[in-house]
Amino acid sequence: MCGIVGYIGSENAKPIIIEGLKTLEYRGYDSAGIALLNDDINIYREVGKIKNLEAALPSSASSNIGIGHTRWATHGKPSVENSHPHHSMNKYITLVHNGVIENYLEIKEDLINKGYTFYSETDTEVIANLLECKYLEYNDITKAIQSIIEIMHGSYALGIILKDDRETIYCLKNKTPMLAGKGNGFNMIGSDAMALINQTDEFYEINDKEYLIIDKDKISIFDKNGNSIKRDTFKSSINNQDINLGVYDHYMLKEIDEQPSVIRKIVKEYIADDKLQINQEILDELNKADRLYIIASGTSMHAGLVGKHMIEELAKKPVEVHLGSEFGYNRPLLSERPLFIFISQSGETADSRVALQSIKDLGFKTLTITNVAGSTLARESDYNLLLHAGPEIAVASTKAYVAQTTLLALLANHLGNNKLDIQLELSKVVIAIEDIISKKTIIKEIVADKIMDASTAFYIGRGVDYCTALEAALKLKEISYIHTEGFASGELKHGTIALIENSVPVIGIISQDNIALNTRSALQEVEARDAKVITIVQERLSNKNDDIIVLDTNPLLSSIAMVVASQLISYYAALLLEHDVDQPRNLAKSVTVE
Ligand code: M6R
Repeated sequence: MCGIVGYIGSENAKPIIIEGLKTLEYRGYDSAGIALLNDDINIYREVGKIKNLEAALPSSASSNIGIGHTRWATHGKPSVENSHPHHSMNKYITLVHNGVIENYLEIKEDLINKGYTFYSETDTEVIANLLECKYLEYNDITKAIQSIIEIMHGSYALGIILKDDRETIYCLKNKTPMLAGKGNGFNMIGSDAMALINQTDEFYEINDKEYLIIDKDKISIFDKNGNSIKRDTFKSSINNQDINLGVYDHYMLKEIDEQPSVIRKIVKEYIADDKLQINQEILDELNKADRLYIIASGTSMHAGLVGKHMIEELAKKPVEVHLGSEFGYNRPLLSERPLFIFISQSGETADSRVALQSIKDLGFKTLTITNVAGSTLARESDYNLLLHAGPEIAVASTKAYVAQTTLLALLANHLGNNKLDIQLELSKVVIAIEDIISKKTIIKEIVADKIMDASTAFYIGRGVDYCTALEAALKLKEISYIHTEGFASGELKHGTIALIENSVPVIGIISQDNIALNTRSALQEVEARDAKVITIVQERLSNKNDDIIVLDTNPLLSSIAMVVASQLISYYAALLLEHDVDQPRNLAKSVTVE
């Protein structure tokens, strides 16, 4: 998704903004730009990577005030004209924008009738002209900002500079993340804390429909009516180490390797004296609920599916898992005492936010499980639980899945009156993951030999293994671009087996004792049709022909370990195919548009 960095202070804003934008590269983008304000406004924009922008920037470009942006195209294709920053027709206003203005066409038509012309296809240029129009009408920028808050419908985080004011950055937001960073003799804005962490670790949260007036020494917050708001800063717990690659070439591999310590951290944070340590109100809500509704997208939804198995098996409480994008608009019938659990690494996924709003409107309680403290879903739900996985930067989610399934295992076991010695069981999972990580060379060879040349692949499994297959397939397709489907192994013969032909890789996941043989049968059926069969099998169920043997864990917790083999398969497939592992095409890290 798009990223914003703005700086005002005594230093040259250019290198600070470029460095901040680079830390936002992980979010996914297709063009980048920067505006530096001197006697005139200078805007530089390039399609592609930030290095293209850097190359295009004159070495003399300098200013103590500037705004920068990485764009993930929503309105109009990636092009210089559509890149941000955008300026208004008379260049009074220059701004960067994350989000989507739903009524931009209506506003644009109105502006065209007033004589405004446009150079881009974006909704952002419309905001620039709207703000200029109001600024010229009121001759007062704060009145102009208050008026556009009333006019714009949709999501926005905006960083704004004015041609005639070299002392101030303005910013406002609605439903899209944005923070202000407080420095010593400088201040900044950014779409996430990581972009500013090399400059400051002290931040102001910004609520929806608030606007900020920022000079180098002061950050002032106002509500949409212009009332001043007092707010304390907070310190971010992110540190430089978390966001540096260190010895790694890719964040994805670094994050895969971090998974054993992520599990240990979660156990340390949530278990003391063999008991789950979470807010009693959350436990009461979980116990009281007659049905849990898990709402999430992508990898987080797959973690939810595993959570359903765990909770239903251990606690005998019914759980439904829904996609955020479906739930918001096609709500299923609800039970009498539901509890809604949102799972989101970023805590910013727009599809889940829409669903959350619809639940809040009904007056039901909500719990968010997220990796980002202070994220929008965390703030907007009644309760939240942190994953403590550390920043996840690769677009392909790995350690978040392991963290989500681990935390769900702790909750499930607590609700099931501690049927499992969960610390012991999770320590087996950690050992199994460490063992898989030590088999990287074997996995890379399997990928080179059997997977990287394929154009289609399948992961199959049953029960919990089916959930792992869905996640494994998503991971392979999103970074290797090999078309991959996750299938319940019993379902192949009902149609999809028609796609099996010579050399199609079919990867079987086998960790469930009661149905291991059924998956083996499905593998035999595809092998008989010339598929290349690959197996990821827990040790007790393995035989000498299996490809990747995973040390035994409790079958209910197997996905937490088995998935790691599939993550490495995806990593090496993308690497060998020379794709951009951390920033796959067309994808964004946190999907803040519906
Ligand atoms: O931040 P969230 O967990 O809400 O994100 C949900 C999905 O967008 C995310 O899991 C996505 O599917 C990943 N790219 C998968 O690797």
